[in-house]
Amino acid sequence: MTENTKNDFRCPYCRRLFDSLSAMKNHMLENHRDGDLPKPEGQIRLTINRKKYIQDVKPGWTLYYLIHDQLGFTGSKQFCDRGACGSCTVIMDGKAVLSCMILAIECDGKTIETIEGIAEAEHPLIPSYVKHHAMQCGYCTPGFVTTSKALLDRNPEPTEPEIRTALSGNLCRCGTYPQHVTAVQETAITLKSQTRQRG
Ligand code: FES
Ligand code: FES
Repeated sequence: MTENTKNDFRCPYCRRLFDSLSAMKNHMLENHRDGDLPKPEGQIRLTINRKKYIQDVKPGWTLYYLIHDQLGFTGSKQFCDRGACGSCTVIMDGKAVLSCMILAIECDGKTIETIEGIAEAEHPLIPSYVKHHAMQCGYCTPGFVTTSKALLDRNPEPTEPEIRTALSGNLCRCGTYPQHVTAVQETAITLKSQTRQRG
């Protein structure tokens, strides 16, 4: 699964996160009874793969639609369009997120990394995935690699159960699951040795 958070409900007024819908509703009644909702469309500024963008977005645009269809980052894929498969995963402010489940208007000021950015940076996950044949048709692969990158960024030495947990929201129709663990474990060793050489 893409990294889980307990705080799945975001107040549309102040963007605070809550564990449940009822907690968010109570908060809204207490704090924003007379508030105006933010405009559902407008101009956002965001950084994608270290490059800054200023973009007009419409109310129904998801982050996936923005990056894939409008900006041409076609690496991430949309299998399910309902938060169930992980193939559309990107990294937003350091955390793996499902781009089909986030509205583009919510991404103002965010920093996003896509599979293209990971490949351009020559991250060792890419050769490890190739070496260990962690893909067949490849449709799910960008989501797996992106989720793995977010895991290694926050936990450079993940255990096998930690890798399995981090990847548990990414589905693969071709059944490549064991190879992902091997590829991530090898990447962790490569990153450690690169850090040692630099230090
Ligand atoms: S396309 Fe986003 S989770 Fe499946
Ligand atoms: S490699 Fe085909 S869906 Fe995963």
